[in-house]
Amino acid sequence: MSIQSLPPVSSLIIDCDPGVDDAVALMLAFAAPELELLAVTTVGGNVPAHTTQRNARILRQIAGREDVPVHGGAERPLKRPPAGAGEFHGPEGLGDLEPFEPTGIIGDGPAVNAIVDLVMKRPAGSTAIAVLGPMTNLALAMKRERRLAEHLGPVVVMGGARSEGGNITASAEFNIWADPDAAAVVLGSGCEVIAFSLDVTHQVRATEERIRAVEKIKTPSAKTVASMLRFSQRIERRIVGWPTPDWGAPLHDPCPVAWLIQPALFELRPCRIEVETVSDLTRGHTAVEFRVDPTTARHRWAVAADAQGVFDLIVDKLKAPE
Ligand code: RIB
Ligand code: CA
Repeated sequence: MSIQSLPPVSSLIIDCDPGVDDAVALMLAFAAPELELLAVTTVGGNVPAHTTQRNARILRQIAGREDVPVHGGAERPLKRPPAGAGEFHGPEGLGDLEPFEPTGIIGDGPAVNAIVDLVMKRPAGSTAIAVLGPMTNLALAMKRERRLAEHLGPVVVMGGARSEGGNITASAEFNIWADPDAAAVVLGSGCEVIAFSLDVTHQVRATEERIRAVEKIKTPSAKTVASMLRFSQRIERRIVGWPTPDWGAPLHDPCPVAWLIQPALFELRPCRIEVETVSDLTRGHTAVEFRVDPTTARHRWAVAADAQGVFDLIVDKLKAPE
């Protein structure tokens, strides 16, 4: 059964590990007036934590959104050694973009405190969090504030894989694999989780035509997005392969943000998601059970996407006057 949700909530925290696709997700959120972006929190993942925090501040500055505080977060997963995916994001995490020392404030206090404080001081269910990297910050926040899970609005996650198989191992997607213990905390907390896994992000590919549509927009944000997409296109060809002429690199992290702006772009199914935290072979595997009562299920799995609609949304928001 698909669930075409109404626009959920507008107050949003984005927790991320920029990362080139995180960068596209941030640029979309920075340009979307529908979203009240309360804060960006960063975590070690694609590249180390100090680099993801710097990168979030760089992207915020390019987008002209220094009104949004950036709070640095966890340097390592709850129990595992720090992960990394620099081969897909470049050594500095921003693809071909030359990093610079950003201006603008660093948020007052660490990510965990920011998540707890921002959510708990607002009405229950009114604040969503988009988790676009390992779930370490959110898991730590839930441990710090036991009421957080029930007070949170939708937790929209880029993570997991079922029908698509894994991208970091045969059976696991990178974000969940990097910190499976944190994923288990969040998935077991009772909060509402909407998962945008490889099953759906692999349907949303940055084809040549879609990249060119972004390149036609002459703004700093659009130029940055195009640069990230071009970098991913080159990496995809070299590391993963290019099976057909109209192929493209999958666009992972913008999917949860696109859903928050325009839910009708995706089809969701109620489910129960559990994660492997013991086996080394299947560490981070997401076991998705669709045989649930749809009226009580707390998890949903995105199963289909209007890929062109996602890119049209990104172009539409980037075109809007900055
Ligand atoms: O597997 C894709 C995810 O891992 C994305 O969030 C990407 O940024 C990397 O973190
Ligand atoms: Ca990410």
